[in-house]
Amino acid sequence: MSAIDITAFPKDFAWGAATAAYQIEGGWNMDGRGPSIWDTFCHEGGRVFGDNTGDVACNSYQLWEEDLKCIQQLGLSHYRLSVSWSRILPNGTTNHINPKGVEYYNKVIDSLIASGVTPMITLWHMDLPQALQDCGGWCSAEIADIFESYASFCFKNFGDRVKLWITLNEPYVCAMLGYEDGIFAPGIKDPGLSVYVAGHNMLRAHAKAWHAYNTHFRPSQGGQVSLALYSDRAEPLTAKDAAATERYKEFTLDWFACPVFCTGDYPESMRSRIENRSLELGYKQGSRLPHFSKDEPSPLGTADFFALNYYTSRKVKDLSENTELSFVGDQGAEGVIDPSWPICGVHWLAVYPEGLRKLLKYIKDTYTSVPIYITENGFSQMGPVQIEDVDRSQFYEDTLQQVGKAISQDGVNVKGYFAWSLLDNFEWNDGFNVRFGLFHVDFSSSELKRTLYRSGRDYAALIAKHRSQSKPKSI
Ligand code: GAL
Repeated sequence: MSAIDITAFPKDFAWGAATAAYQIEGGWNMDGRGPSIWDTFCHEGGRVFGDNTGDVACNSYQLWEEDLKCIQQLGLSHYRLSVSWSRILPNGTTNHINPKGVEYYNKVIDSLIASGVTPMITLWHMDLPQALQDCGGWCSAEIADIFESYASFCFKNFGDRVKLWITLNEPYVCAMLGYEDGIFAPGIKDPGLSVYVAGHNMLRAHAKAWHAYNTHFRPSQGGQVSLALYSDRAEPLTAKDAAATERYKEFTLDWFACPVFCTGDYPESMRSRIENRSLELGYKQGSRLPHFSKDEPSPLGTADFFALNYYTSRKVKDLSENTELSFVGDQGAEGVIDPSWPICGVHWLAVYPEGLRKLLKYIKDTYTSVPIYITENGFSQMGPVQIEDVDRSQFYEDTLQQVGKAISQDGVNVKGYFAWSLLDNFEWNDGFNVRFGLFHVDFSSSELKRTLYRSGRDYAALIAKHRSQSKPKSI
């Protein structure tokens, strides 16, 4: 990774990797864990590539020490993991606590800290307890208070040691794929309706959790809380598509970022577009985009840092003629891939590292003076395993070069970078067919052996180089 100007990265830069509970833990019914929506979704069959499930995955529930060795081998300063909600609260509520689940995360947190690694913990990474889905999931208004109790439980039990929290991972992706397209759990296909309700309750839940932390835990624990937002970098396909590109951004990043960082409400033009289309399409059951209540804590200001998940970019095409009642119809825009961007593994992942630099600058200019963590970014492999994954290594080099430029030339306050992912893992509806790890996992053997990829080796070397250059010089 010689092209990277390592001096651009501040001394205390967080070098991390990320994972999520359902994608790595396995142990789906061990020691009192309750089922999550992903257990149900996978067990139904016909939903996921090869009917793969996360029943065992990387078996991190039992092989945590192996993961820790991987983290140490990379020399990470930070590790982002998620808590499986139903492992510690099997029915999702604090009425029933599973001590073995709490014990597991205590062990993980303690061993990270003992190894000098700072944990960043996500409270919800797609795996809602099934018991809560049975009561309406993210479409039920009550979920916000239930999430607040769960979050407070985690702050209380782990917050003496955990100082970096992510409440929700990618509300945009979960609302879109889980409630609009129905291709992710819980598999609801309700175009143009549930997506906004689910997204709204996610924001309410996040805001309540942040306020709970701010009032009850921050004074003694002194940590930071945010939510991880997914965004592409969007550019117009032709000059005629400029307005469509603005709408695309509004319906992707601004939908969640605007309430949290700018106004406490959805972008005005997003609201008016949805309302006008409801009128045009003869939809009369009230506003499809809910309103925030003045009687609840506002989402405004509920992020102590900006957590960005960036993977890819899109050229945007106008679709304003679309007359369907759907999210895409409301958006009136469609993202397409520029043929000059190489595709890595999965079809949606067009590689465009420059997009990350541009997006970081956009976020700094549009939203925030709070620091930014890139909480996910990665490159996938399909087909025969290549341990010498030179393409992925080159991808990390190109990407980190762009991050360095964003810091040194554009003045963006980037505090850290988390590669997705530490390990090959269960890649949602692509199952184990797609590999994102810095370590290969041999899913064909019961030992689930972890082997460092070339990209992992190069990432480790970069971290070591930064560390050695950041050390105070001895006289
Ligand atoms: C993100 C998600 C991760 C991971 C990654 C690669 O959207 O948060 O869990 O699967 O995509 O597709």
